Amino acid sequence: MSFTRRTCMTLAAAAAGLALGGPASAQQPREIKIGYALAQNSHFGAGALAWAESVEKSTSNAFKFKHFASSALGGERELIEGLTLGTVEAVVVSNGAVSNFVPDAGVMDVPFLFRDTTHARAVLDGKIGEDLLAKFRARGLIALAWGEQGFRHLSNNKRPVVKPADAQGLKIRVTENQTHITAFRQLGMSPTPMSWPEVIGALQQGTIDGQENPISVFTSAKLWQVQKYLSLTSHVYAPMVLIVSPSVWSGLSDAQKKAFAEGARAGGLASRKFVDEVEKSGVEEIKRHGVQIVTEVDQAAFRAALAPSYKQFATKFGQKTLDAIAAVK
Ligand code: PAF
Repeated sequence: MSFTRRTCMTLAAAAAGLALGGPASAQQPREIKIGYALAQNSHFGAGALAWAESVEKSTSNAFKFKHFASSALGGERELIEGLTLGTVEAVVVSNGAVSNFVPDAGVMDVPFLFRDTTHARAVLDGKIGEDLLAKFRARGLIALAWGEQGFRHLSNNKRPVVKPADAQGLKIRVTENQTHITAFRQLGMSPTPMSWPEVIGALQQGTIDGQENPISVFTSAKLWQVQKYLSLTSHVYAPMVLIVSPSVWSGLSDAQKKAFAEGARAGGLASRKFVDEVEKSGVEEIKRHGVQIVTEVDQAAFRAALAPSYKQFATKFGQKTLDAIAAVK
């Protein structure tokens, strides 16, 4: 084909594009960088993929999500900061990191706050959860939905932990979260706040004895490679949050905002479905990899040992809020 003929055809195609509503470049999907701490085949990935798929579909591919899994954009603190700095546009993060930005959300980190998963989900899906999501706006963060990681359990390389006395002196990595630090110190452990990307290396080198995370994280990160004992303490419920950056949000039409919000809810539900599955099979898988599982944890003794900290938590988050959470059926 001659150059002139090809040029004419290109111009004709461009003119047709203009007639349909804009130049060809306007049809390009807008890229949304989404970051999270774990692999794409984790509960975080399940949430992020479902969110992306829902938005892409309901906006007829006006947006295309690009996934940065496995802490590729840094730890969770960096991810959340990145939303306002403009280095990332959407994140799926754990509540542990969030309370440094939205202190009221830290109430979820109070140990033994929820009776079980049904209770936790009812709180997050109800007015208390909605009000907490709304509080992110004051920090310029657009939190659209809650997802889930599951209940956190304690693992270590020293000994099986059944009761608080067994945990005395253990050097345990905790999230950068004051409520967790207070609770672990109260239990006689030595809590070491650390960003997630450093944890496996620190366990390998023995600079910490253990860590605490839900089964979903233990299996996703293959923590059996670096941990000998896992006690099913269920000491804290761990929600995750799906957040979009203020600059993306302010540029969306109302219909697009709806698509992002609905997509985030779908993402939250996908993470819960993933967690439900992994909770069924995960403990057996971990056992198969040689980790000694302690199922008979003395939870009553852990609660009792934490009693002095609850006074502090009540002052920090308000007894009224703690009672309102307990009252949710
Ligand atoms: O322990 C944490 O920091 C969080 O639970 C993690 C592993 C980043 C969330 O998936």
